[in-house]
Amino acid sequence: TAGGSDAAKRQAGERAAEAVEDGFVVGLGTGSTTAYAIEAIGRAVDDGLDVRGIPTSFQSRQLALEVGIPLTDLDAVDGVDLAIDGADQVVDDADTATDGALIKGGGAAHAREKLVDAAADRFVVVADPSKLTDRLDRSVPVEVLPDAHTVVADRVRELGGEPTLRDAERKDGPVVTDNGNLVLDCAFGPIGDPDDLATRLSRIPGVVEHGLFVGLADATYVGTDDGVEVRTY
Ligand code: A5P
Repeated sequence: TAGGSDAAKRQAGERAAEAVEDGFVVGLGTGSTTAYAIEAIGRAVDDGLDVRGIPTSFQSRQLALEVGIPLTDLDAVDGVDLAIDGADQVVDDADTATDGALIKGGGAAHAREKLVDAAADRFVVVADPSKLTDRLDRSVPVEVLPDAHTVVADRVRELGGEPTLRDAERKDGPVVTDNGNLVLDCAFGPIGDPDDLATRLSRIPGVVEHGLFVGLADATYVGTDDGVEVRTY
């Protein structure tokens, strides 16, 4: 829950949940902001809304089960109507081609998040104002096959990045993702061309998925303490 206020996150999450319609298949993102959307969808299910959710992580699956959202899988549905997901950074500059580009993966869930968010007809980002930026400049989480972390780290350095193997807080050793892989947090400084960097990272053998989401979001709901501002792309 680092960053913005819980009130702002709640505003964004609950507003996004209002976009869920009867019969929808909904991608359930990960993190503290999306959690407010999942809880609101759960309340709507209690009131009779017919939806099926596709979780993007262990965390979002557990929460969806707790609040009573029926669950399904990507390979069991014809499509995903709407995905709601948080972000670690969102480009907020309507004058640039990268408006709406994201960094995700602060919770190490970005591989499954990208799969589900990209499959959705509509992908809505939920964020508080602390996530907005002119230019992406946080570390880019890169999920790697366990055997590959050293060679991928070398390739990331060749691209001008400084990789750090993400350590677990309450375990001796690295973070292991829901998929059994490791995460390199790669600092590139301000990223001038996220699309180009995304392509270069995807080309490295051993990279499972990176946290640059370029051209995927359709809208961002920016919560404030007393409302929501909507950005569309
Ligand atoms: C998970 O890996 C991330 O992509 C999250 O979506 C992101 O960290 C947003 O989380 P918060 O809403 O808690 O900031």
